[in-house]
Amino acid sequence: MPDIPVIAIDGPSGTGKGTVSGILATKLGWHLLDSGSLYRVLALTALNSGISLNDTDKLVQLLTTLNLRFESATEYSGASIILNDQDVSEDIREESCGNAASLVAALPEVRQTLLERQRKFRQAPGLVADGRDMGTIVFPTAQLKIFLTASAEERATRRYKQLIEKGINVNLRDLSADIAERDRRDKERVASPLRPAEDAVTIDTTGIKIQRVINRISALVEERFGSQPGFTR
Ligand code: C5P
Repeated sequence: MPDIPVIAIDGPSGTGKGTVSGILATKLGWHLLDSGSLYRVLALTALNSGISLNDTDKLVQLLTTLNLRFESATEYSGASIILNDQDVSEDIREESCGNAASLVAALPEVRQTLLERQRKFRQAPGLVADGRDMGTIVFPTAQLKIFLTASAEERATRRYKQLIEKGINVNLRDLSADIAERDRRDKERVASPLRPAEDAVTIDTTGIKIQRVINRISALVEERFGSQPGFTR
């Protein structure tokens, strides 16, 4: 398994990780793991079933019974997320769900329970893995590790635009405060805190168009993996 190529893309919210990962996976024809969606689905299910977001035992129990599947990704976007035969792809994108996800994601037992599930995504011909701890904990042997950053203002503005485009009503000031709080929790937690792997390439995407970020990563992909069938910059 460690031979199957993995590109780990980590960083805080609003750095373009999801978009970049989706584009790369499509260009390469590789699998895509949107690890944040696992924490979001768990949080959504807990909220809907009245389970407290710090009740570790019940959350772990919930994880073992989750009837969750990912349906084929469309070009440049993640897979549809089907929970108990219902498409929850949109529901889990709500900010409230992101915040709840960061609470359950701070629990070491929850992270441990999700570890193997995430590692199963490492399938031929390769995997692009998007998250916070892909390069440090889940796929420490990933052949290419990218850590995306951007200024707090830009990240908040990008998230704001994304949510408004999806018809989700938010207030920029509240959103900035929520993002700052979520980032603080992700960085300061004891279990798998958000940080770049020692061998990660950090790319600051502030003021940079997504296409330039893709070009930069594509050059790194060619350097590490050689030319890939059908892969063009
Ligand atoms: O990336 P996304 O915004 O979907 O992630 C939601 C939350 O899930 C993050 O704020 C973080 O707390 C948690 N998460 C994590 N580890 C990952 C992916 C997401 O802790 N690998």
